[in-house]
Amino acid sequence: MPLLFGTAKFNEQEHLTIGGCDTVVLAEKYGTPLFVYDVAHVRERARGFKQTFNSLGVKNKVIYASKAFCCLAMYKLLEEEELGCDVVSGGELYTAIKGGMSPENIEFHGNNKTKEELSYAVDQNVGMIIIDNFYEIDLLSTILKEKGKQQKVMFRITPGVDAETHEYILTGQVDSKFGFDVMSGQATDALEKILADENLLLKGAHCHIGSQIFSAEGFLAAVEKMLLILNDWKKTFGYTVDILNMGGGFGVQYTEADDPLEPEAFVKAIVNGVKDQCELLDYAFPEIWIEPGRSIIAEAGTTIYSIGSQKVIPDVRHYVSVDGGMGDNIRPALYDAVYDGFLANRISTEATQESRIVGKYCESGDVLIKNIDLPPMNPEDLFAMTSTGAYGYSMANNYNRNLKPAVVFVENGQDKLAVRRETFEDLIALDCE
Ligand code: LLP
Repeated sequence: MPLLFGTAKFNEQEHLTIGGCDTVVLAEKYGTPLFVYDVAHVRERARGFKQTFNSLGVKNKVIYASKAFCCLAMYKLLEEEELGCDVVSGGELYTAIKGGMSPENIEFHGNNKTKEELSYAVDQNVGMIIIDNFYEIDLLSTILKEKGKQQKVMFRITPGVDAETHEYILTGQVDSKFGFDVMSGQATDALEKILADENLLLKGAHCHIGSQIFSAEGFLAAVEKMLLILNDWKKTFGYTVDILNMGGGFGVQYTEADDPLEPEAFVKAIVNGVKDQCELLDYAFPEIWIEPGRSIIAEAGTTIYSIGSQKVIPDVRHYVSVDGGMGDNIRPALYDAVYDGFLANRISTEATQESRIVGKYCESGDVLIKNIDLPPMNPEDLFAMTSTGAYGYSMANNYNRNLKPAVVFVENGQDKLAVRRETFEDLIALDCE
């Protein structure tokens, strides 16, 4: 039996169903490749984080990292679940606002926010801007003075923690493009600068140690380092944070080999870690914010592809091509990410054939799954690749002028188109003759 997430099941016709919807029917209705999102699973994960904080009596904010996947329907769902969101560009901010997010629940991140983006965020009254560097302190300060406004801010610190994950998604270490470094004293200089600026209302400190992290150790190490620094600042400047933002990075399951902690366990570990450190240092217990992206949306997403051509090289390899690939999921090519999958339209057929699932893009590196046992397949069989909800659609591109897939939300037997499939007309919409 393959690894199934959330509400995924097989019906009597041996078709994969998600949210009570038959994926074979969805593929007929919307075409393939198709991203299917299990809304109940998103709600469950969101509540897992939020309710654990609440049950521990800890003031909190769970802020979904838009970069993992966003669209208007996703923001509507976040509002329903009372989550905030983080945005990292004017485009994400625009979508969040259009999607009905209340500006107070939006925080703005990024290591190179432009003057236009910062102005836009200030005009929209976003709840929090996370200042990343000295250039931004000056830029934001100037914008606020021009507009005669004040803005709630935090500042991002790189605490010097090495989490065990892929180098490209590691961010808490000293040698990082993000945030103010502690060891060189830059974080302290930044604190002084921000405190001295009457337009910047400093609410707390932020750190993010990396992504797809399975255990609590890295977070606990970061909590310890953050509180040591915060305590130094309390002694030196009499400054105590209202909010400690521990970022995102909570890991998910892509295959059986992955064994991450559940959201509840991550939250409990962080809360206990903060409590221990605060007691030890006699520091006032702050509000705790987190920014989960992947852990809310990854497992809820499944991509349905149609099988097309196959190439069998005797004694070498069986290639199976699908109608998508590195344009809708660049993660295998970019990070060596490993995924799982199975036929969505006939589960019981025995998986006897070692196969390599490849896409339709003109690159040998366009491999979705290097090795997987599958039944013998026919063209137009449907292949379901699981746990594709995070950083798949959001990193999609039009390489080879292929079209971005459609996205459908399913819940309680109802399907709702969340993003329509691109058309050829969309492809040339920006071209000038
Ligand atoms: N907060 C900050 C400041 C971040 O930089 C990120 C992710 C998150 C929160 C959310 O992290 P998550 O909970 O999703 O792990 N494209 C890569 C992941 C890049 C993550 C960048 N920052 C991938 O496909 O694995």
